[in-house]
Amino acid sequence: MYYTLFRNANIFSPIDRGMPAAGKHQAELAQYPGGALLVHEGMVVAVGDEAKVVAQVPAAATVQVREVDGRCLIPGFVDPHTHMCFAARREAEFVERLKGTPYLEILAKGGGILSSVKAVAAASEKALYEVTSTHAASALRFGTTTLEIKSGYGLDTENELKMLAAIGRVAKESVQDIVATFLGAHAIPPEYGDDPDGFIEMLVQEMLPAVCEQGISNYCDIFCEKGVFSIEQGRRLLSAAKALGMKVKLHADEVNDLGGAGLAAELNACSADHLLAAGDDNLRAMAKAGVVATLLPATAYSLRKPYARARFMIENNLPVALATDCNPGSSYTESMPFVIGLAILNMQMTPEEALVGATLNPAYAIGMEKKVGSLDVGKQADFLVLDGESPAILAYHAGVSPVVEVYKKGEQVV
Ligand code: NIG
Ligand code: FE
Repeated sequence: MYYTLFRNANIFSPIDRGMPAAGKHQAELAQYPGGALLVHEGMVVAVGDEAKVVAQVPAAATVQVREVDGRCLIPGFVDPHTHMCFAARREAEFVERLKGTPYLEILAKGGGILSSVKAVAAASEKALYEVTSTHAASALRFGTTTLEIKSGYGLDTENELKMLAAIGRVAKESVQDIVATFLGAHAIPPEYGDDPDGFIEMLVQEMLPAVCEQGISNYCDIFCEKGVFSIEQGRRLLSAAKALGMKVKLHADEVNDLGGAGLAAELNACSADHLLAAGDDNLRAMAKAGVVATLLPATAYSLRKPYARARFMIENNLPVALATDCNPGSSYTESMPFVIGLAILNMQMTPEEALVGATLNPAYAIGMEKKVGSLDVGKQADFLVLDGESPAILAYHAGVSPVVEVYKKGEQVV
């Protein structure tokens, strides 16, 4: 009976009330200065004041004591939105954007997402596996212990399944918990250029059943945007996915306010992501339906767009989650500390709200809340030691990761 006691830690953890934390709850953390965390077989057995935690150790147990030296201890980050499975970077496109060409114009000319589609078609599953696991390992060093990875650079059945197989292998071999999302509707492939409805029908008739049959993803996503997919097409695809038992989410109102947030509410999506341009009424509808608002401030930063209105969302009881959106086009970063820094300094979230947004709320957004997202008894002992006094260090020590130790299921992995 081996137990590990992490002692003298300045512990901060969201409070899991059985639902994503919204409104004033988004700012609530349990805090234990000089606290302790007891781990057994990878799980949290007790957390809080040291004397109470020590009392939970069975008499016959062998206990290893780890000194945290008064540093800050928080749950591992959960990154609920990434496209880190890709074959090639797009640095030249980034330079083109710096010179003023808009993101959607590059896509309309066959670049952007479509250039990643060409690269993925030419890559082997093994090559995709290698790039993806390199990105996942990088994310782990920045404290991401659970993450979501999307397909979406395949756009035909063979290449979407190849991406999902590569993601599945990373999920199997990485220490992280990884959730795969099927994003077959990420762009209109050139062969369907004048028939996006036909492409959606192909997704419904052919790709969705193939994905379900292989059991490689339980989530379906779509990019609803001007020049990409309409709300009507989103409704058609996501309703079909729901009918097959999948959970749904969408890239909503990233550049233009098409009403993606409203569709997310209508379909009871697990999340609507981006929301830079989302309107008040649709955001309120999301709050009513309990949809998580996943915000991607590194994308707004990289596209040089106004940030999503996190304060309005929190004031209107929308649970806010934060994600990197790690992808080769609009946001090439694996760093949750960077995202949290942007959320605090550029979206006016408090450090407490940002921490809940980087742990508990994203765990709900990707269906991992029973296992991760807070340091509660019965959840996995996934946690980080920060070189700082409180979660504020994540914004304060700008451009530098204060994550000095990473633990997955109680084992130190960084
Ligand atoms: O979430 N907006 C659509 N999809 C991604 C970008 C993908 C890419 O540019 O490769 C996003 O920003
Ligand atoms: Fe995205």
